[in-house]
Amino acid sequence: MVQLQALSQRNFLNTADLTLQEIQQLIELALKLKQGQSQASLAGKTLATLFFNPSVRTRVSFATAMFKLGGQALDISSEGAWAFEYRDNIVMNGATIEHVKEVAPVLSRYCDGIAIRCSELVTKSAESAKVGAWETAKQDIVLKSFAKYATVPVINMESNVYHPCQGLGDAVTIKEKLGQTQGKKYVLSWAYHPKALPMATPNSQMLAACDLGMDVVVAHPEGWELDPEILAVAQRRAEQSGGRFSISHDQDEALEGAQIVCAKSWGALKYYGQWEKEKELRVQHQDWIIDESKLQLTDQAHVMHCLPVRRNVEISEGVLDGPQSIVIDEAENRMWAQMALLATLL
Ligand code: CP
Repeated sequence: MVQLQALSQRNFLNTADLTLQEIQQLIELALKLKQGQSQASLAGKTLATLFFNPSVRTRVSFATAMFKLGGQALDISSEGAWAFEYRDNIVMNGATIEHVKEVAPVLSRYCDGIAIRCSELVTKSAESAKVGAWETAKQDIVLKSFAKYATVPVINMESNVYHPCQGLGDAVTIKEKLGQTQGKKYVLSWAYHPKALPMATPNSQMLAACDLGMDVVVAHPEGWELDPEILAVAQRRAEQSGGRFSISHDQDEALEGAQIVCAKSWGALKYYGQWEKEKELRVQHQDWIIDESKLQLTDQAHVMHCLPVRRNVEISEGVLDGPQSIVIDEAENRMWAQMALLATLL
């Protein structure tokens, strides 16, 4: 049996950095904490949370997770901090005030962990702003720089590429609802949304479902392919867990017999940063919504969404308010998953 102590003092940047056994044990610990069957303490410990983007669930669930464990989260969001520099060998005579080479080790002296949310697409408010190429965004410079210069664990609260806390929380929710997950059908369905959204959440949701040994189908219209390197990791994790992984461009076919349907919108990688072009493609797929008729195709599937959700755009009102929606439980489980994670890492 792998001991969770092996994760102590490690970073949490992507669920796929952990073994399947480590993920399984974090899920078990989260469910035990939720059921009051296990206790953990981070008394006297502090977590610095840096949000470069808006957040409701992640911000509050990390704060409450630390509080419930007897520690404290310190929110030093971007508005309240200096403008940080990440480039090497830079003459800092411009807008940036403090280099990550100082701020990460300084925060490491005060705090027992550093959690970062930095998604370029959201920071630069997608449609109007100039966003760099995907290959640059994929480097996750902000998150990786903090991980490089911090001397305490760094937690990814959503970067350009991954949202592993959402992935872990979703895995806890799926396990809680289904019990045995092996071979059960999970569909991650692209959904229409009026704005181009990041791919971090669907990447991590897909990876987490693959870790559970499920029959994972990622359904999206042609042109909405996720990053091929990450798809390859999903395929590998599915094989390791005894599950299956496939892509479908037919939403109805994909939904047939599903036990879990997770709706999520994301942007088209091939038009990353070219939002006018991307929008031309996107508006053609407004029928990609999870509504009552789509749900009829499933095996009474539980419906998931990471939230925030656009009602009657991504998921119909009837489905969201109906008995098959588990989006509120899913949001709650972010907290229990993060309690397990924090208690283990810190
Ligand atoms: N799902 C999620 O991460 O929500 P927030 O953006 O509100 O934190």
